[in-house]
Amino acid sequence: MLTLFQSSIFALAGAAAVAGHSHEGPKSAEEKASLNKLKEASYLCAPQIAAYNAQRERAWAQKVLGGASYAEKRRFVEGGWEDIAQQMKSIDGAHETDSGDKRILACEAVAGSKIRNHTCVLAPEVTEGPYFHDGEHPIRSNLGELKDGLPMNMQIGLIDVNTCEPIENVLLDIWHCDALGYYAGHPRPHAHLTDEEPAKEGHRKGLLSAYPRDHDGETWLRGAQISDRNGIVEFQSIFPGYYQGRATHWHIRVHPDFEVLPNNTYIGKTLAHTGQLFVQDDINSAVDMMYPYVNNHLRTMPGRGRTRNWQDSLNIFEDSQIGGYQSMWDMHYMGSVISQGLQGFITVVINSTADYSQIKWSVEQGKDRFASKLAEPTAAVHEEL
Ligand SMILES: *[C@@H]1O[C@H](CO)[C@@H](O)[C@H](O)[C@H]1NC(C)=O
Ligand SMILES: *[C@@H]1O[C@H](CO)[C@@H](O)[C@H](O)[C@H]1NC(C)=O
Ligand SMILES: *[C@@H]1O[C@H](CO)[C@@H](O)[C@H](O)[C@H]1NC(C)=O
Repeated sequence: MLTLFQSSIFALAGAAAVAGHSHEGPKSAEEKASLNKLKEASYLCAPQIAAYNAQRERAWAQKVLGGASYAEKRRFVEGGWEDIAQQMKSIDGAHETDSGDKRILACEAVAGSKIRNHTCVLAPEVTEGPYFHDGEHPIRSNLGELKDGLPMNMQIGLIDVNTCEPIENVLLDIWHCDALGYYAGHPRPHAHLTDEEPAKEGHRKGLLSAYPRDHDGETWLRGAQISDRNGIVEFQSIFPGYYQGRATHWHIRVHPDFEVLPNNTYIGKTLAHTGQLFVQDDINSAVDMMYPYVNNHLRTMPGRGRTRNWQDSLNIFEDSQIGGYQSMWDMHYMGSVISQGLQGFITVVINSTADYSQIKWSVEQGKDRFASKLAEPTAAVHEEL
């Protein structure tokens, strides 16, 4: 097993959740105060989060390498991070240095104020985009359906900022595009937009219109899971491709309160986080050369091509990195080469008692905005991606 990126990652989620304005950061004094409070509280959780991440990675390594099962053990053990370096040493003799040990921990357990400048805490990112379907994301772990692409398993841990403990029974929804950049339900640009050029200026700079939804029944690459007693949700899917103007990304929402519907979808009630996740660009460029990603029509189009993280429209990626925060998967190979698949870990810190649902981006609102964009291209402000 190779550890590709040893920076441990966790997301600070929930504050400043003003749909469509996330890229400009919190605005009102109240939003700023709430964001700061959440940040402060998250810093104090750093040692616990480091332990949590290390335990999860160890459990995963044991599973993949045929070791003892961790299923019946509580993975969150205080101080547990200390022994993972030892564990990993025996697994992968190639990286036995002290600094290697530290990197395996992904995030050093730094207490108190020191963590303030540490790069392993994530900024909240709240752009939900037009591709979420209320009440129509199935509760399931395997999202792939018949989609082809590089296998990717995802493990997301949820930590409650109020307790620094993993949080059970919270619903996390994830959705992303396929290898060629399409979302389920939104297969192509509108007929008269097939030759559309990306916006050259203004708020939508670099982007095309959102693909309209015209395949209602499709659900691939969309799904939700309810966190277990270790605060963990797991998904099996493919690595997403990209579309005009956007770096490869995953959307997530976290609902502490939700209702499961008879058709195995759910309705979210309280909303604790809306965000986007990214991956290091060298992984993106490696995947871009693999089938079927190589068939993305943007790939060889003059002046287009794959959008790098640093070029992401509306500064979504950049803003997710502000202040030493970051929003990247901690990515591992599942086998010995990348084409055998990837395993991503991330930890999201939420405030389980906060509710941002009243300001969430609504599907109806998006349709209206989309319609007005079609009718009057210059008039509508498009914040969704
Ligand atoms: C969590 O949310 C509750 C309710 O909005 C709020 O009172 C509390 O201050 C928040 N905690 C943090 C750490 O942000
Ligand atoms: C964090 O970084 C800033 C700017 O680099 C520095 O002024 C400050 O003292 C640092 N704070 C801590 C707690 O290390
Ligand atoms: C599930 O049921 C809800 C509520 O009746 C409905 O809105 C939704 O479209 C259904 N989803 C699917 C995938 O059938």
